[in-house]
This record gives sequence, C-alpha cells and structure tokens, in this order.
Amino acid sequence: MSTELPESYGSPPDGAASAPSRRTFIATTTAVGSTVMAGGLVAGASLSGAAEASAAEAPPSGRVSLTVNGKRHATVIDNRTSLLDLLREHFGLPGTKKGCNAGACGACTVLVDGRRVNSCLTLAVRLDGAEVTTIEGLADGDELHPLQRAFVDLDAFQCGFCTPGQIMSGVGCIEEGHTGSHEEIREWMSGNICRCGCYVKIVRAVEQTARGK
Ligand code: FES
Ligand code: FES
Repeated sequence: MSTELPESYGSPPDGAASAPSRRTFIATTTAVGSTVMAGGLVAGASLSGAAEASAAEAPPSGRVSLTVNGKRHATVIDNRTSLLDLLREHFGLPGTKKGCNAGACGACTVLVDGRRVNSCLTLAVRLDGAEVTTIEGLADGDELHPLQRAFVDLDAFQCGFCTPGQIMSGVGCIEEGHTGSHEEIREWMSGNICRCGCYVKIVRAVEQTARGK
C-alpha cells in the first residue's frame, strides 16, 4: 500500500502552517542546492578581495596631540574613543573613574583647558591641542592640592569611588566662583553623585578650600 499522499491532499485548516507538497519540496531543495553551489564559486572570487573588505571595515581613526598633566602625548586612535578611555586604557591613568559611562554620575570628571567635563562623553579625537588635568596631576609633587587636603582632613569620602570626580569638579566649581553658599555649591556640584552619601562633608571641603584661596 502506497504511503504517498496525492498532491491535492486537503488544505490545512485556516491559521495552520502549510505543509509542503512533494512538488514544492523538490523545487525548494533544487533552488537551495543551486544557491549553495553558486555561493561556493563566489567565495573563491571574494577571497581575493578579503584584504580590501577588511580595510574597508577598519574603524575610522585620527591623530590627536594633547597635553595631560603637563606631559605631551601624540597618538592615533579610533575616532570613537572617549577621553575617559584614552586616559585609562591608553595613557595608564586609572584615577579618573568610569561609573555610568553615560554622563549621569560625574565620576569621570576632568579639567579640559580649565573647564570641567565628563570625560566619558568627550570624544578624544576632538581635543587636539588641549590641556587636560586629571586627579593624578593635581598635587604638586608630594604636596596635595588644598581641596585634596580638605577631603582628607574632613573625611569627605567613604568608599572613595566618586572622590576623584568630586575633587576635579570641586576645583572647577571654586575656579568658577560658585561657592557663595552651601546651596550654591550643592547646585553646581549636583552632577557629581556620591552613593555613600558624603555630600555634607564634600560641600564643607569645597567651601573651606574656596575660603582659603
Ligand atoms: S562615568 Fe562619566 S558621568 Fe558617569
Ligand atoms: S565615597 Fe563612595 S561613592 Fe562617594
């Protein structure tokens, strides 16, 4: 007894997946076979262009020359490299912290030409000729910057993860003159988050340093 079903064997019920008939099965497998064979032939031809293809896929890069903590650097980088990654991964300066990597926490704050910026949101390739200061460049030899000294004296940190960003932001805040009151300091330091909640002492350290200027 034959197990073959006639090609006109009933239609599937509405909404059910259609089972392939013998004719459509043969047509489909023939087409797939042809494609695989053609692909094999084309692969040989495209091998010769592999070098060109990989060159075309290489990310765009650019040359940047900038000064970090008084030291001149010239390098070629992927255009998408952030200043934060350039500092930490290319220049070996891990003092600047990567928190959110999205501009929301301030852990990555550094000074660029004296202005505080979130280095995670700053494209390094755009900083040709810039002067960058990180937490590593703040002290004068063994002499801590006055704000670093105030953080230590007032115990203005707990885990310390946010501290480099807080200090760099505090230096900017003092230079900008936004230190007239606790409220003003809080407002102008509001981009720097401290998950340990050391805000009272951080504000006090900034205020004390600004008064001592
Ligand atoms: S790591 Fe840059 S703002 Fe959070
Ligand atoms: S001291 Fe821990 S996050 Fe600020």
